[in-house]
Amino acid sequence: LNHFTYRNNELYCEDIPVANLAEKYGTPLYVYSQAAILKQLQALQEAFSELKPLVCYSVKANSNLSILRLLAEHGSGFDVVSGGELKRVSVAGGQARQTVFAGVGKTDEEIAAGLTAGVLMFNVESEEELDAIVRVAQSKKIQAPVALRINPDVDPKTHRYISTGHKESKFGMDIQRSLLLAEKFKGSESIKMIGIHMHIGSQITSTTPYSSAAAKSVDIITRLREMGHPIDWFNMGGGFGISYDGKTSPSISEFAAAVIPSIRKTGCRLVMEPGRVIVGNAGILISRVIYTKVSGEKRFLIQDAAMNDLIRPSLYESFHGIWPVKVPAGFPSPPDDFETSRINGTKLCDVVGPVCESGDFLAQDRALPPLNRGELLAIFSAGAYGMTMASNYNSRPRPAELLVNGSGVVVARRRETFDDLIAEELNPLS
Ligand code: LLP
Repeated sequence: LNHFTYRNNELYCEDIPVANLAEKYGTPLYVYSQAAILKQLQALQEAFSELKPLVCYSVKANSNLSILRLLAEHGSGFDVVSGGELKRVSVAGGQARQTVFAGVGKTDEEIAAGLTAGVLMFNVESEEELDAIVRVAQSKKIQAPVALRINPDVDPKTHRYISTGHKESKFGMDIQRSLLLAEKFKGSESIKMIGIHMHIGSQITSTTPYSSAAAKSVDIITRLREMGHPIDWFNMGGGFGISYDGKTSPSISEFAAAVIPSIRKTGCRLVMEPGRVIVGNAGILISRVIYTKVSGEKRFLIQDAAMNDLIRPSLYESFHGIWPVKVPAGFPSPPDDFETSRINGTKLCDVVGPVCESGDFLAQDRALPPLNRGELLAIFSAGAYGMTMASNYNSRPRPAELLVNGSGVVVARRRETFDDLIAEELNPLS
């Protein structure tokens, strides 16, 4: 979190006091650090440099155009899973030839859009999808570059909602089925099988699943090449875990060391699809306390960020560090592990939003300093799967997003208005 630091008991994003941003742009508010994003991109490019990596940033993690633009300018490619994400990449100046198109349910229209744009390859997840790609490619008279998404059947030991690489997953195909499919499409002129793809899950905090998956790929690549497929690319997917609570997750170089030996043997170029590791710790969500309240034994901090703004705690029971933007007198900056219950004077409370659901919380039983109405909270590690999973539930306009660079700020997305909320609907009175 080194681009979000406390100076004189006050939180800064790079060189800007976060409280000033909240005053000027309102809350809830997403704030991203440009330096933090670029640092991670560069770390990936360097750690894997031996395999001439193409980093295809996974747009679903944070699809703000300013972030896509920033990454494109620094040599990143993109991983998209829909026509909408493909459109975003193109508007932000990303290169289609550095874009991979994934997803289990690509429609003919999306396949056509990918082919016309000239994506580097489609990650194919089923036989019927490959049939569809052949059909669309024939009608457009374009040869479609493809990679089979293979399930290496390894256990990534992460939350079951975000674990994908086992045999019985809706994603990808098991090894046997993939080989049969490769055999079947051996002579096809409409496709060119140039790679294999594996994505085993997200928020993975061990290197073992990666080394096992990469090891299995060596033999698969040999078999596909023997069939005559010109396999040039190994796409290892994304999934590198980040630290939400100060506990260490493997470093990017450790992840690299887990796959490089196997991939080196294949002579393939590497594609990777990291999302969270690039933006996760580069963003925070700022909220303001609306009320404090005690019910029975429980204390509540009711603040203006809710499950519709950041759904991860409600959906996955994820932990996000939380601490006041201005630390009250007598309290320290938050410890790296956010074990705040050790700090004298803190009290356990539930940090909740205004949404009408008991599941609307950002933290439960969290030790925080006593806070009053109007004070600001920072919810850390909110750069990935925060805004992209936000909704308008309870007719709440979604937050604004700011991108900070040193002491400069751009409004990467303005706050939604009430008029935005009803803009697509028929107005029954007009
Ligand atoms: N490639 C594929 C094929 C994916 O399905 C994903 C994420 C990624 C790459 C990027 O994974 P990352 O590097 O960000 O772990 N909403 C959940 C995470 C869902 C991940 C879905 N797929 C969360 O908030 O934890």
